Amino acid sequence: MCGIIGYIGKRNSVPILINGLKRLEYRGYDSAGIAFSRNGRIEVRRCAGKIKDLKKSVKGERLIGYSGLGHTRWATHGRPSEENAHPHKAGGIVVVHNGIIENYLELKETLKKDGHKFTSETDTEVICHLIYSYSKKGLPLEKATREALKHVTGAYALGIISETEPDKIIAIKNDSPLVIGIGEKEFFIASDIPAFLKYTRDVIIPDNGEMAVITHEGVSFTNSINKSIKKKIINITWNSAMAEKGGYRHFMLKEIYEQPRAISDTILGRISLEKGKVNSEDFNMKAQDLRKFSKIFLVACGTSWHASLAGKYMIENMSHVPCEVDIASEFRYRNPIIPANSLMIVLTQSGETADTLAAQREAKKRGAKVLTICNVVGSTSAREADSVFYTRSGPEIGVASTKAFTSQLTALYLFSIALARAKDAINAKEARELLNELISLPEKVEKSLQQNNSIIKIARKFCRVSDFLYLGRGINYPIALEGALKLKEISYIHAEGYPAGEMKHGPIALIDDGLPVLALVPDDEMKGKMFSNVEEVKSRGGKVIVITTEGESKPYPGALHTVFLPKTNPYLMPIIFSIPIQLLAYHIAVLRKCNVDQPRNLAKSVTVE
Ligand code: AGP
Repeated sequence: MCGIIGYIGKRNSVPILINGLKRLEYRGYDSAGIAFSRNGRIEVRRCAGKIKDLKKSVKGERLIGYSGLGHTRWATHGRPSEENAHPHKAGGIVVVHNGIIENYLELKETLKKDGHKFTSETDTEVICHLIYSYSKKGLPLEKATREALKHVTGAYALGIISETEPDKIIAIKNDSPLVIGIGEKEFFIASDIPAFLKYTRDVIIPDNGEMAVITHEGVSFTNSINKSIKKKIINITWNSAMAEKGGYRHFMLKEIYEQPRAISDTILGRISLEKGKVNSEDFNMKAQDLRKFSKIFLVACGTSWHASLAGKYMIENMSHVPCEVDIASEFRYRNPIIPANSLMIVLTQSGETADTLAAQREAKKRGAKVLTICNVVGSTSAREADSVFYTRSGPEIGVASTKAFTSQLTALYLFSIALARAKDAINAKEARELLNELISLPEKVEKSLQQNNSIIKIARKFCRVSDFLYLGRGINYPIALEGALKLKEISYIHAEGYPAGEMKHGPIALIDDGLPVLALVPDDEMKGKMFSNVEEVKSRGGKVIVITTEGESKPYPGALHTVFLPKTNPYLMPIIFSIPIQLLAYHIAVLRKCNVDQPRNLAKSVTVE
């Protein structure tokens, strides 16, 4: 997830671009750059690091331009560096891009054969060269862009300018956000409204395939079949703080709602349905490498540890390779026995958690191969691992992890299929079924989010309690743990997650009149047992909330509330169950007037032991 911005008008574009990028920094901040037209040339200034580093790098230069583009990056292809920073330029064509081009490697090979020279590892630079290959034949920029994009598959929001037509900006999107700002004889493009809200509140939001051609005179649009179209102008009433959160009250809520997109992006370009396989190259591990592993360790902290626990079920049930899961801070001190042909999977959103890094180094020292599943390109964990699989949930600003967690579960699901196929534990047909279910998951997550209002009702009932119990079984026991962690870390209510079958061995003594108990009840062979656990709670005065799947004829009689969710296969149910438990924690915390995005005593990345 990156931030793009463009400007054309009567004012100097450079300060407008830099200030706009500052407002977009929450979308990505590992490198930044601007391009501006001056005396018939387009000049580019880029640097690794944040916007403040870019500002420092251009300090003292008199940079004047009347149109230009800017970009702040969240790396997905190519490490954070100046040469990978946008804007990219080739043959006088300058591009900023937010999204993921699935087929960029094959396009790059074809362009190289035509003599194109590349200077970066990014998918975006390929778009530059592709457009240039048409514009050098004399096509105007809009036509060259249309021709080039016919070859491209993937998600993009693009800003494009050319040295031969410096007073024109082309903007077009496919599945990535893009907005056009309409000012007084000045025009803006951006990934998000905050970038230009201080200059104009009049916005046009193009749909997929619609191209904006922007000059000093105005903006015209064509649709995906190149027909001119009229687009209506929307007036934005948000203040800038709300705009940064996309209109949501908190980053955490915004990130909960970004999960369908984060899951789709994590899957994008990594599966092949017809072959029934996962591109294990994305784990940069060939099938023959995967086949060798006879033992798998998973280590992580906090929410990422919960993902690891669920990952154990996926890996063992799909590939029959034995797995061991450790809390990272425990792993390194327990003198772990790591047999030959072991793989250590490290899960870490930030890639900087000290306990996790220490465990990773311990495993490496003892001879394990290390795969890290991480959300930050170029982070310490990623740099030190033998292989990296990047989740693509974009920057997660809220301290309480949500979209990164469900993206980690998605990555573990993909890894499990890749391993099971490499081990011939599942065939292409079985893998295809698992992948088809994964492809339909974002829509089911979207549907689960529609339960928000019923979750708010439950939150209102229980926002003043002092204790909360979450119950689950099997692969959903880690989600009971996650529900408890979410609630305690942002609402400060004491909460515990337990395997439901364990209640009778002590915790049931906790049940008294009014204790809220949330039970995760998927439609599987354990359903009967889960409902008898619910009965045990209810008969002792507990207030039961049942989260179950559609298809149940009526709300469970013993429950105070029943929430129905879409069904999926057992491996992916943890992702569906994550939605209501995240929303419940969020709404209770808001009702308790807690600082949801920055809870007391916590940090987004725990870089101390
Ligand atoms: C989760 O909501 C917490 N913020 C915390 O438990 C977090 O998951 C843990 O600190 C691990 O962080 P990491 O994934 O960046 O390594």
